[in-house]
Amino acid sequence: MTGGIAVYKSCYLVREIRRQGGDVCVVMTDSASEFVSPLTFATLSGNPVLQDMFPESPPENPIHLQPSDWGDILVIAPATANFIGKLANGIADDLASSVCISFSGKVIVAPAMNPRMWDNPAVKDNISILRKRGFEVVGPESGEMAGVNENAGEGRMSEPDKILRQIRESLAVTDDLSGKSVVVTSGPTREPIDPVRFVSNRSSGKMGDAIAKQAALRGANVTLIRGRGAEGEPPAEVKTFVVETAAEMSSAVKEHFTSCNLLVMTAAVSDWSITNPAKSKLKKHVGEPDIQWKQTEDILAWAGQNRTAQAVVGFALETSNHLEGAQKKLKEKNVDMIVLNDPTQSHSSFGGDSTKLTLVANDKAPVELPVCTKKEAANKLFDNISRFLQG
Ligand SMILES: Cc1cc2nc3c(=O)[nH]c(=O)nc-3n(C[C@H](O)[C@H](O)[C@H](O)COP(=O)(O)O)c2cc1C
Repeated sequence: MTGGIAVYKSCYLVREIRRQGGDVCVVMTDSASEFVSPLTFATLSGNPVLQDMFPESPPENPIHLQPSDWGDILVIAPATANFIGKLANGIADDLASSVCISFSGKVIVAPAMNPRMWDNPAVKDNISILRKRGFEVVGPESGEMAGVNENAGEGRMSEPDKILRQIRESLAVTDDLSGKSVVVTSGPTREPIDPVRFVSNRSSGKMGDAIAKQAALRGANVTLIRGRGAEGEPPAEVKTFVVETAAEMSSAVKEHFTSCNLLVMTAAVSDWSITNPAKSKLKKHVGEPDIQWKQTEDILAWAGQNRTAQAVVGFALETSNHLEGAQKKLKEKNVDMIVLNDPTQSHSSFGGDSTKLTLVANDKAPVELPVCTKKEAANKLFDNISRFLQG
């Protein structure tokens, strides 16, 4: 954000991007912070606002490169005449302009200025340089200016909704799941040994969380059933229910299954539970506990047996006989797709941010996805399962 009165409109822009499932990091010029306080944007974005090129306690990584590493798109709204000039001429004399010059992704510029400034030939030339370099320029619009004494004309910043549409278009964000209810399970389950100990597994929940988030971004109404012990916070844009045991996971899935269009089961549900968990903490001196195991319910198979119009996708973690195992599971469990994941591969390790999945369905040859981030994998998964969604 740069120093024009239209910064106030960007409050709504930030809030709306977050409401629609995006993460926002706000970078402000000093002039921009004269109009709206950085505190407002820190609160609206849920992230610290970056303003200072040389903060008192510098972070480990160069601050001007951080948004470039992190962001999918850079939006300059409002863009002042001054800032547009700096962009066009490669000037990087503050944090905001240094961020822009180091950003390699798509850039949207939303100019906002008085009509006399917008008419200035230098501004016109600078804008055409930016267009030629592939920047997306949104607006400005004609109409009343913010100041009561200012003459109407061309120069006011486009409304946030128009900028949002451009962001969605530039990111190729589809809303193909709009009107659909999607239930996603993620994370590990925990089976108690006694009130303080449990048996669990290494699932981080990252894959399921990424799937839930991308479904929400594509317009779905998402319910995430998440095993306690999954890492970090669940995505803000989905309704999350936290469960502990395989039995709790099963009840929660059953409760939400009837009304959903799609169930994606990524959770690493324990195959066994302990029949005789102790009521009080087991004492060490008593010796090794006598633990009896019983098989837990196969939730995916239950969903396959009980589905009406729902599409069902299961994840299978196979360390050997990958394809064969997945194809068997697909038939036995009567589901639409099994997503195969081999955690012994370095790029697919537990808790990592990247993965390599293979999508196995009855109606097509297996689709091997490239190694990619879990977010990218989630999107590719949805590109491939929309055909199973009815109506
Ligand atoms: C009240 C007021 C409103 C302003 N509005 C704008 C504006 O809408 N667009 C613009 O280009 N400059 C506007 N300016 C001038 C910029 O704030 C000034 O050029 C500043 O140097 C821009 O700094 P920045 O590009 O680093 O944010 C305004 C100045 C004031 C005092």
